[in-house]
Amino acid sequence: MKNIVLTGFMGTGKSEVGKELSRVLGWQVIDIDTEIEKSQNMKITEIFKQFGEPRFRDLETEMIKNLSKNKNVIISTGGGAVLRQENMDALRESGVIICLTAAPETILKRTSNNNDRPLLQAENPLKKIKELLEFRMPYYQKADIIVDTENKKPFEVAEEIIEIWKK
Ligand code: S3P
Repeated sequence: MKNIVLTGFMGTGKSEVGKELSRVLGWQVIDIDTEIEKSQNMKITEIFKQFGEPRFRDLETEMIKNLSKNKNVIISTGGGAVLRQENMDALRESGVIICLTAAPETILKRTSNNNDRPLLQAENPLKKIKELLEFRMPYYQKADIIVDTENKKPFEVAEEIIEIWKK
């Protein structure tokens, strides 16, 4: 079976849905951001602060290319991973690309409980979310399957994904 690759904007539930998929399928979740943090021994926020977003994007691409080679895994990517075509090529080679979506207000609600997302540390986070979403929409739409997470529990989203992925 092909790997399951989770993409989507920050706060669309990739981590939670990844955990559910892992529970049901018995597959390991590889979280690209977590692996970057481990490899650099630094939090994402710190990488952004010290080296800037371009350096983070290079680390992200390197990690995606390496970890996409694994088999029978769920790969959970950061919200900006879709922006580079080379990332998408590696991910597509690896598995079925699922993009999770949610409304900007829901994203705000799900992300406002912590400040570990450097791109959302704006004066008006909702405006920032809307701007980023608008710019990124064509990139998210490159996924094989788009799954809306609005008003759904992570296990419901996971069930929906498994149904489609099994076919
Ligand atoms: C980012 C999303 C974050 C993380 C970084 C950049 C983005 O991951 O990779 O802060 O550009 O959307 P999550 O989507 O897991 O929050």
